[in-house]
Amino acid sequence: MQQHPFTFSVSVPEETLSVFDKHIVRRLSAMQGQYLDTQAFKTMLSQDPVLYEVYEINRPELAGELMNGITIVHPGKIGEEYFMTKGHFHNLLATAEVYYCLKGDGMMVMETPEGEWAVEELHPASVLYVPPRWAHRSVNTNPHDDLLMFFVYPANAGHDYGTIEQHGFHQLVLERNGHPQIVENPRWRQQER
Ligand SMILES: [Fe+2]
Repeated sequence: MQQHPFTFSVSVPEETLSVFDKHIVRRLSAMQGQYLDTQAFKTMLSQDPVLYEVYEINRPELAGELMNGITIVHPGKIGEEYFMTKGHFHNLLATAEVYYCLKGDGMMVMETPEGEWAVEELHPASVLYVPPRWAHRSVNTNPHDDLLMFFVYPANAGHDYGTIEQHGFHQLVLERNGHPQIVENPRWRQQER
């Protein structure tokens, strides 16, 4: 673990980090119950495509430290619904995150435990500030190219994937008439409070 200041670079064309410790590859099979079109999900499962990848620099999971890395969401759809990340709240709910879009086009779908929601578009040079308490999911709306983002968040934040797996996101991003459209998720369930 480097305790001295260090520099690294993101290669945009190659979609790589010059320094990283962890490479996470998420396939469709990790997204059970997340896609609206269950028939299309089943059909695509035989190919089990890679939906997204994360390269991260490990830091101690301590207050004051920052995790950082890149997320790459590949282009594609399951039925009408674009490839996307699992989406999560932070275990430590009161922690924020910053995303910097380097390549591609997408949307960040977000919501609070109370069910307030927001969707922000992402294009190269977009910087998105996700405030504390907002769950977030990256969606690649470009049918031809990867969505590449740099992220940074408090290293003690942790990930709560389970709440989204059970309740879903309030909004889905679907391709309709060749364009991304934000629609209500008929299967969304309000969290008990
Ligand atoms: Fe996060």
